Amino acid sequence: MESESLTVVDNRTGIEYSIPIVDGAIRATDLGQITGLDGTGLLSFDPAYLNTASCRSAVTYIDGDVGILRYRGYPIEQVAEQAGFLETCYLLLEGELPTPSALDRWSDDVRSHTYVHTNINEFLAGFRYDAHPMGMLLGAVGALSTFYPDAKHISDPENRYLQRVRLIAKLPTIAAYIFRHSRGLPYVLPRNDLDYIGNFVNMTFEIGGRHEPNPVLQRALEILFILHADHEQNCSTSAVRSVGSSQVDPFSAVSAGIAALYGPLHGGANEAVLTMLDQIDDLANVPAFVEAVKDGSAGTRLMGFGHRVYKSYDPRATLVKKVADSVFAETGLNPKLEIALELERIALEDEYFVSRKLYPNVDFYSGLIYQAMGYSREYFTVLFALGRLPGWIAQWEEMLTDPETKIARPRQIYTGVAERPFVPLENR
Ligand code: ACO
Repeated sequence: MESESLTVVDNRTGIEYSIPIVDGAIRATDLGQITGLDGTGLLSFDPAYLNTASCRSAVTYIDGDVGILRYRGYPIEQVAEQAGFLETCYLLLEGELPTPSALDRWSDDVRSHTYVHTNINEFLAGFRYDAHPMGMLLGAVGALSTFYPDAKHISDPENRYLQRVRLIAKLPTIAAYIFRHSRGLPYVLPRNDLDYIGNFVNMTFEIGGRHEPNPVLQRALEILFILHADHEQNCSTSAVRSVGSSQVDPFSAVSAGIAALYGPLHGGANEAVLTMLDQIDDLANVPAFVEAVKDGSAGTRLMGFGHRVYKSYDPRATLVKKVADSVFAETGLNPKLEIALELERIALEDEYFVSRKLYPNVDFYSGLIYQAMGYSREYFTVLFALGRLPGWIAQWEEMLTDPETKIARPRQIYTGVAERPFVPLENR
């Protein structure tokens, strides 16, 4: 079969170049044979990676034009409906659904690593009472690398497995401690007789040895974790891959992912949605707010709307809406929900949003659900991080085992002064 290629004619020189197309992509390095700036090879310029594949990946498939999301080939709708969170972690990490015995073994491994070193308690105690939970989480996860120096042996698969188990087992414990730190409550130790979600919920909400679990809310939280578990090369995952490509330990690489997730254009969006709903305050203000977003005077975008990849709808948002129904049936209606529904209705009919293909994303309703469950809004992104963790680790592992991986090191187009002589301080 004839191989596919792209023919490029350099109209400065008349020279014709043939650039191979493999897997629907050309290699940016193949452009290097064409003369670019100052006689060096031609660069490709794509500051936000709008049209650049940074890796090959077999973890998650997205078709944003038609709203498809699959984990290892399984449609997100089926995974969210039928799998548990640890089962989803296994699928993402191992590439296959676990057999019952494999799932038991995996769950046991995670269960036996849920405790954290007690010095972590002291580490967390050093944060101010009003420290943002995401700042605490990224600090604490970075600090874990000092508790597990063996984690730097990243070329040993058994060692990587151990660190993967530690991360998935210990993050809920740390996250729950952070939740309680903000309230001045004593930490509740992990209970390994509970399942993964039940244990996390117990560690966050138990008071005086008592906590009445609500199975509907626990399953809702589990589905939200599953919906967030991976989303191919998003900002935080790219951060994990990029930092991990320096061969740093996985705790440090994951803390880079947490830092990226903290931002309001990424994981911080669900917190920002609630702030926006507060700002709107009343159903009657919704039309004026939408107009203000459009003309820029609102000082904000419509948070929870739009997505870099999904240009028809976000399949996770459809599932989140169903979760919202089940949660609000338990907890009663959240007054902010009415404003959110009206905002969605108006935006979906408005030419500005329709023409830009802006639809609700996964974060539009997740914040309202977390709030109804009893989590404070600064904490929402921590919940997102717990869900995204297996995706970060699966992609980190894939990056490390890909023979094409090199340290991530983009090029630049220099726009500064060419060269000038240094001026001594006394002459300036
Ligand atoms: N509200 C109003 N206008 C918007 C919005 C929005 N939420 N999102 C995009 N636009 C407009 C932009 O102003 C731009 O308009 P223009 O063409 O007139 O300049 C156009 O739509 C395209 O926007 P871009 O910024 O180029 O889109 P991009 O793909 O870079 O951004 C993003 C995607 C960051 C998600 C954006 O839609 C946004 O800021 N949304 C709000 C924040 C949010 O909800 N983030 C969560 C993302 S999902 C997640 O992280 C799980």
